[in-house]
Amino acid sequence: MKLVRENILEIEPYPPGKPIKEVERELGIKEAVKMASNENPLGPSPKALEAMREALNEANLYPDGSAYYLKRALSEHLDVGEENIIFGNGSDEIIRMIAETFLNQGEEAVIAQPAFIIYQIAVKVMKGKCKLVNLRNFTHDLVTMGEAVNESTKLVFIANPNNPTGTMVTREEVGSFMNKIPQGAIVVFDEAYYEYITRDDFPQTINYIRQGRNVITLRTFSKIYGLAGLRIGYGVAREDLIRDMNRVRQPFNTNCLAQVAALTALKDKEHIERSSRLNREGKDFLYRELDRLKVSYIPSEANFILIDLKQGARGASQKLMQEGIIVRPMGMYGLPNFIRVTIGTAQQNEKFIKALVSTCGTA
Ligand SMILES: Cc1ncc(COP(=O)(O)O)c(C=O)c1O
Repeated sequence: MKLVRENILEIEPYPPGKPIKEVERELGIKEAVKMASNENPLGPSPKALEAMREALNEANLYPDGSAYYLKRALSEHLDVGEENIIFGNGSDEIIRMIAETFLNQGEEAVIAQPAFIIYQIAVKVMKGKCKLVNLRNFTHDLVTMGEAVNESTKLVFIANPNNPTGTMVTREEVGSFMNKIPQGAIVVFDEAYYEYITRDDFPQTINYIRQGRNVITLRTFSKIYGLAGLRIGYGVAREDLIRDMNRVRQPFNTNCLAQVAALTALKDKEHIERSSRLNREGKDFLYRELDRLKVSYIPSEANFILIDLKQGARGASQKLMQEGIIVRPMGMYGLPNFIRVTIGTAQQNEKFIKALVSTCGTA
């Protein structure tokens, strides 16, 4: 007798980037560099580390389930009401809560292909249907996605910038798209890399929420804030949508260290600026080197670059790993010749380029 629900068998488990220690153990190497999961190579804000050390003394107590202080600070930071904010154990958890709260069995979610894989998992868990719309020029094709939305559509997921391509959709494209979205659908803008954006035509999607639209904007403390290991992200939406999501939220879903670290990191402007600068400089360096080596890549608005090796990425990643560089082969995203590389420190970027030259026979 099968115990598992049928729809669960349709789900491929999400394969996360390998931890550094695991790679070192498996390959017998030391000082491996992880450029596979789009983390901040500078680490957490030093002030957040200090705040966490103090908070450790209260680890015997349950965390504040409402994340009162963090919510208050974020409400000021974003200029939205506290009732418009929900926290998750990473934005991953909010994606799951969105599907659990809003998606009835058989309802559709319109999702770009390839985009962040967690959307499809969340939809399938709820017995929803994924309607996949191919990217155009490695970017969300909002015209075709808009046409794919109909009365069976409950959710639309837009990763902006997209993972794994790093491309973004503009304010104007989002504006035309939003004009076509019916009342019954909720549009989720996943802005995990928001703080890295330097372009001024990036859409301010929280404005749609202020206008009362069915929009949920997701952001995270995992990327520029450097707190991926603590698992904390947030969603912004109309009060009624947040209230409904709170019905399914685990009462203590964000832990006490994550809450104080996020609160402190949010205010540590110096660390954010340093991280942003490092990313811009690293991106410029990698673009220059890849151009010099005549290696194709997709220009990115985020903290990673999708690189076309024009050869099997799985084998290439394995070789890079033996050189101590962990990157992400993109076969599971339907891009078998591509790797996704997180922009690192200057030293890490140089090490990556050297390893690329010696393993992939470029230049
Ligand atoms: C587009 C996108 N959304 C969400 C996430 C998940 O972030 P979190 O660590 O907040 O769960 C990621 C992580 O890589 C991502 O790339």
